[in-house]
Amino acid sequence: RMREGLEIPDWFGYPEVVQELRKTYPPRARQGFTLFFTGLSGSGKSTIANAVMVKLMERGGRPVTLLDGDVVRKHLSSELGFSKDHRDLNIRRIGFVAAEITRNGGVAICAPIAPYTATRGAVREMAEAANGGFIEIHVATPLEECERRDRKGLYAKARAGLIKGFTGIDDPYEAPEAPELRIDTTDCTVEEAAQKVLLKLEGLGFID
Ligand code: PPS
Repeated sequence: RMREGLEIPDWFGYPEVVQELRKTYPPRARQGFTLFFTGLSGSGKSTIANAVMVKLMERGGRPVTLLDGDVVRKHLSSELGFSKDHRDLNIRRIGFVAAEITRNGGVAICAPIAPYTATRGAVREMAEAANGGFIEIHVATPLEECERRDRKGLYAKARAGLIKGFTGIDDPYEAPEAPELRIDTTDCTVEEAAQKVLLKLEGLGFID
């Protein structure tokens, strides 16, 4: 026989019951989590991240912290450039802060380019080791569209050779193979994109 409502045999003693309960406790709806956006420059990461932040704050519940690419570069990684080593260090710092927020039951929203698969994997491990969730969202707007928008004029500079090692032009972007969600913003509004993220969080049980 099973203990009432639980997948635990009713002959288990309390230590075994506690051990079993720990596997699903706290329930996801009360765990912290890291929402990790990754994608090319100009793909829409920041815009979607901000819209999701607003929606989560409106719902109340957990505190929400946004670790946006540009803001982190200004305040946390101001001495870093864009070599592979520096990008990795930047992402690991973001991962560390996000994991601390996650550990304390908060929501950390990160929105860097994060071009390397292995480094994103390390950040996932940090969040999961902090007893929280990690939801990777690939903002998969194609390079042509990012370049067409060129909001900051950086693609034009990279094409002209004025910026070296620009992601997608002459520096790699390793697209995630199995993100929790992939969004192409070519034909979708910010509102729709944010809604997709909220639905995914609901589907995974992180919000009610
Ligand atoms: S990374 O790779 O994750 O560490 O990059 P991130 O911290 O997100 O910083 C990306 C923003 O920096 C600007 N920028 C560059 N991006 C890519 N490659 C090169 N060489 C580069 N130089 C400056 C660019 O504005 C990125 O902003 P977003 O918001 O992504 O457009």
